Amino acid sequence: MKYRMMYSFLNTDLQLIEKELEAAIEADSPVLTEASLHLLQSGGKRIRPILVLLAAKFGDYNIHIVKHVAATLELIHTASLIHDDVVDEADLRRGAATIKAKWDNRVAMYTGDYIFARALEIMSAVENPLAHQILADTMVELCLGEIEQIKDKFNFDQNLRVYFRRIKRKTALLIASSCQLGAISAGVEEEVHRNLFKFGYYVGMSFQITDDILDFTASEEVLGKPAGSDLLQGNITLPVLIAMRNEELKKLITEIDEETSKERMAVIIDAIKASGAIEEAADISDQYLAKAFAVLDNLPSNKARRTLGQIAKNIGKRKF
Ligand code: IPE
Ligand code: IPE
Ligand code: MG
Ligand code: MG
Ligand code: MG
Repeated sequence: MKYRMMYSFLNTDLQLIEKELEAAIEADSPVLTEASLHLLQSGGKRIRPILVLLAAKFGDYNIHIVKHVAATLELIHTASLIHDDVVDEADLRRGAATIKAKWDNRVAMYTGDYIFARALEIMSAVENPLAHQILADTMVELCLGEIEQIKDKFNFDQNLRVYFRRIKRKTALLIASSCQLGAISAGVEEEVHRNLFKFGYYVGMSFQITDDILDFTASEEVLGKPAGSDLLQGNITLPVLIAMRNEELKKLITEIDEETSKERMAVIIDAIKASGAIEEAADISDQYLAKAFAVLDNLPSNKARRTLGQIAKNIGKRKF
């Protein structure tokens, strides 16, 4: 099932959030407005705002309150992508030129900062210190995750624990917080918003593992962003860590550095694909999803819960 069909009952509210997003980035500077709009209007799955709205359905759902949280989470995600494309030297995102490619790294740096600031401004409409604490902590962790990844480039001596901690920080916590903050803004009781956080955390882990798999298995056309570039850039992801358990493959992989030619890289990537490492990584992603489903069982049964289940199922099968 397509995402859009799963949550068609949210369509009117999601349209409102699109308007919020566009209004939020209106700036006195033409460059800031253009660059922000450029990425915002290029699409994106809008998974985080959708999760915010669904989580709020577990409480007193009021779109005029929860829309602020939904817009904030999408803006933080957007800003983190702008900075991520600088770090990853990526020229394509959502099928369009990245801000760092269309303008330059300096513009990307401040457009990202600007959108972060706008996100916080919108969030100020939510009068709940716990919500602000959670949001700030999540942003701190996101920075830690991205900086750890820079530090660990071409470090083949890292174990699975380091990888899991990194993806938790850079991806899973923002998805977990989307669920929790949506719930908190709707006055959901603590046990339920903690479970929604857990659900988002497990889904988020699976989401990044799948993203890392797709970097090996999908094409640039389908992804709308560069494929096959993680290893080339020294970003050691789960399929690589699994492949390195094989001594022969480990020898091949650990010889990679900034100088490795594209031809040599293609040989190594083919060897990783043929090793079964991709399938093993997909199994681990599925284990996280199974945990997400188990958490759902503890939540009150309603339409939102069913939709969260469908979204989780789709994340496991996603191709882009
Ligand atoms: C991309 O996130 C970055 C990761 C956390 C893997 P999404 O896949 O949600 O990106 P968009 O918003 O749909 O483009
Ligand atoms: C996720 O990592 C990025 C952030 C959490 C900011 P990636 O670097 O893998 O994301 P993509 O593949 O560029 O979307
Ligand atoms: Mg990255
Ligand atoms: Mg990237
Ligand atoms: Mg990626």
